[in-house]
Amino acid sequence: MTQQAPDNILVVDDEENMRFLIRETLAAQNYEIETAGGGAQAMELIRNKDYGCVIMDVRMAGMDGLQTLAEIKKLRPDLPVIMMTAFGSRKIALQAIQEGAYDYFTKPFDINEMRVVVKRAMEKKTLERENEKLRRQLAVAGGDTRLVGRSQAMAEVLLFIDRVAGNDLTVLIQGPSGTGKELAATVIHEKSLRAHMPLIKMNCAAIPETLLESELFGHEKGAFTGAGARKIGKFEAAHGGTLFLDEIGDMSLVTQAKLLRVLEEHAFERVGGTETIRVDIRIIAATNQDLARAVAEKRFREDLFFRLNVLPVSMPPLYDRVEDIPLLVEHFLVEARERYGAGVRRMSSESMRLLMDYRWPGNVRELANVLQRAAVIAQGELITPDCLPAQIRGAVPQQEQDGKPHAPFDGSLQEVIDNMVQTTEKKLIQEALDSTDWSRTKTARMLKICRKSLHNKMKKYGLLEQDAEPESD
Ligand SMILES: Nc1ncnc2c1ncn2[C@@H]1O[C@H](COP(=O)(O)OP(=O)(O)OP(=O)(O)O)[C@@H](O)[C@H]1O
Ligand SMILES: [Mg+2]
Repeated sequence: MTQQAPDNILVVDDEENMRFLIRETLAAQNYEIETAGGGAQAMELIRNKDYGCVIMDVRMAGMDGLQTLAEIKKLRPDLPVIMMTAFGSRKIALQAIQEGAYDYFTKPFDINEMRVVVKRAMEKKTLERENEKLRRQLAVAGGDTRLVGRSQAMAEVLLFIDRVAGNDLTVLIQGPSGTGKELAATVIHEKSLRAHMPLIKMNCAAIPETLLESELFGHEKGAFTGAGARKIGKFEAAHGGTLFLDEIGDMSLVTQAKLLRVLEEHAFERVGGTETIRVDIRIIAATNQDLARAVAEKRFREDLFFRLNVLPVSMPPLYDRVEDIPLLVEHFLVEARERYGAGVRRMSSESMRLLMDYRWPGNVRELANVLQRAAVIAQGELITPDCLPAQIRGAVPQQEQDGKPHAPFDGSLQEVIDNMVQTTEKKLIQEALDSTDWSRTKTARMLKICRKSLHNKMKKYGLLEQDAEPESD
């Protein structure tokens, strides 16, 4: 687990004898010891791994101890570094402390003194981790979020995020395009105990199959034509943090098998390499495909599905939570103001009604785009319907828009089609309602839509007035 400080120590010294001596002294204390022969090598190790503390000589060939100390402090400010100085160079030791070293001891060293210093440094790290954990738990409990929405469906998503952020289990986010899956993944990471570590995002659909493996696992120098230098893959880059695997449903069966192995063993080899690399990562996966169906159709491995589907969450389509639209509108208008200097803008009531009636196939992303455009092209403070794209204006029955009855080929092809769809939809809903004595629950089940969505459609088509059943919310 991340919150526990690792019990491994990195010993950095250019003298082999010294590395050996320290390793022998500390190994008896049950610490795991790794060594580096110089500053540059130490930095590479620290970049890729979390250590409990570092013991480093001040005087080293190449990058010396103080220079390396400065680099470590930049990369991992909270990693305790204990410096070793030659007997009699107290001045340098004090300088190291001023520059962020945790402590020092002098060579030749007293074994007991060294053990005490190291023990204290390791405890310090554990204590800091625990404090950090407590702080994050507080933040999670009372946390604010960038996911806007107060509908029942969104409230459930937010509650889910608060509940799961703090643990390390795999989250699978499903939902149609533009519903906020990536945003949800970001919020989960930011509210997690790993927030101070990297969130690495990887779009599995965007990378050619031949490169995917090297992207995920990295490769060794010369592993294949064009592999000029060693490359760290996304799994290694995410060590200590979170790996967001987006569009997971688009991964080939071959890569799925490889991914499954890493998820099971938390270990892999770089392409062309033999060294087994172990990583501590949390996985969040997302897809706009129905993965259970993909499994049934043998496009997705069932075992991988079960591995990923530990904490599942579905992002609700915007059309099923129209009550979130006014909040989102406000949110995106403020954003447009800050980002594009779009002035203070409000929706006219007619425009707001159009937004509430529209189907939103592109969900929140589409709404964000529509509002950015509207905020920029609006002339005054009010955003009037003419600032909205035709497909949204077309959602109103034609006669309501211009007062004239609707003629079959009046308007664009899209508008005519939209009108026909709506006429048919209204008729079907009415028939279904009639056949169930206007029971909304039965009608919704019959039409395979949720009650909320049925309510919205009834409202849109003026069917609420004909209904004796009181509104549920
Ligand atoms: N609830 C929300 N509150 C505020 N902004 C949102 C919300 N949901 C989505 N957005 C914004 O909408 C845009 C699309 O969201 P995101 O990229 O997370 O969707 P997605 O589900 O990953 O889409 P796709 O399946 O197409 O990749 C982003 O700009 C995001 O910030
Ligand atoms: Mg996405």
